[in-house]
Amino acid sequence: MTQRAVTDTESAIAERARNVLPAGGFGNVTFDIVIREGRGGRAWDESGNEYLDFLLGSGPMLVGHAHPDVTAAVQEQVSKGSTFFVNNEAGIQLAEAIVDAMACAEKVRFLSSGSEATFYAMRVARAHRQRGKIMKFEGGFHGMNDYALMSMAPVRPGNFPQATADTAGIPDSVSDEILIAPFNDAATAVSLIYEHQDDLAGVIVEPLQRMIPPEPGFLEALREVTQELDMALIFDEVVTGFRFAYGGAQELYGVTPDLCALGKVIGGGYPLSAVAGREEFMKYFDAGEVGAENAVKQIGTLSGNPVAAAAGLATLEILKQPGTFEHLFATGQRFMDGLTSLIGKHSVRGQVRGVPPMFDILFTDVDVKDYRGASQSNGAKLKVFNEQVLAGGLLKGDNKFYVSTAHTIDDIDEALVICDAALAAVGKA
Ligand SMILES: Cc1ncc(COP(=O)(O)O)c(C=O)c1O
Repeated sequence: MTQRAVTDTESAIAERARNVLPAGGFGNVTFDIVIREGRGGRAWDESGNEYLDFLLGSGPMLVGHAHPDVTAAVQEQVSKGSTFFVNNEAGIQLAEAIVDAMACAEKVRFLSSGSEATFYAMRVARAHRQRGKIMKFEGGFHGMNDYALMSMAPVRPGNFPQATADTAGIPDSVSDEILIAPFNDAATAVSLIYEHQDDLAGVIVEPLQRMIPPEPGFLEALREVTQELDMALIFDEVVTGFRFAYGGAQELYGVTPDLCALGKVIGGGYPLSAVAGREEFMKYFDAGEVGAENAVKQIGTLSGNPVAAAAGLATLEILKQPGTFEHLFATGQRFMDGLTSLIGKHSVRGQVRGVPPMFDILFTDVDVKDYRGASQSNGAKLKVFNEQVLAGGLLKGDNKFYVSTAHTIDDIDEALVICDAALAAVGKA
């Protein structure tokens, strides 16, 4: 395992970052690396160190960095201008592709980030049912808006359905607008929904919450009760859209929500997100149809940006090629299986959770079904593991490996050699 060496050039850039950026960074990752470039499933830092990249820009780069088709599409669009504020054909084509792919999608409204997409999906839910409260699940992550950052990572989880804010700066009153339920506990969630039906506008859920897959029947139970009460069911597919299947988690799990939030993959590495959903809900974006007093206001300077739309369209074209998802699932599965064997080899308490395009190790042997189970994961061991793989030349998120369609079986085997050494260190820690 080659250890990362930092040149004076990279140290100097990092130092400049500390002068102008709070905590010396963009706020996204815990480590201090300046990335120079990426190609396919690999990236290089300013010191010239090469990494197997399983961070993938936190998910958007599903087809790998600088894919020639995506680069060509972007270059072609950029030469014609970058943004216009009015409709452009690339954006319209991308909306058509989303409608074709996602079972729930009849209409699409573009935004720029995943946090915006969940924010507006919740606003639409409120406009439809004319109620204020939203149910979310403990440990569920829906980005950074005030309604999303509730009981995402509570240090001392309280009683359901009381929400606690995850960050400073949110007005106290917001926590009264969010009800928290335990993920994968259909009975509790459904009974809370009935109990609060007079105040609830909708339910938002990550179909696979962080690394925890839904138990059979859980998403179906949410679908049934929300349908019965004419309450929006929102799938946050910012991560899962076009990744778990071309049609997202709603295709993989066979449950169709009313609305979904999309981001990451659909922008092909550029800032673009969307709310997509059934006409009955999406109509609230159309004041002409529902009347100004009932309409959801939404304007965004870069919404439907043509460069991002061209990148997204090129990305979706690649994903549509026969065998792409088979390859992604085969390489991801090999990685997951390899990690499971290494956990056994080094007698580490742990388990690999997630699905082949996205997974991580939880350092616990409890059967993890929800946030409280996942909280049993040994954070100190994860930290050692993450530091060791990084030093060995593997980039990953704090809690996630993302696999790209550009990764080969050889890349996975190389990654497993790095993880072998890292898990040996975890075993001794
Ligand atoms: C499930 C989920 N929803 C929403 C978001 C927020 O997306 P963005 O970072 O584009 O605001 C994320 C980001 O990782 C996410 O994982």
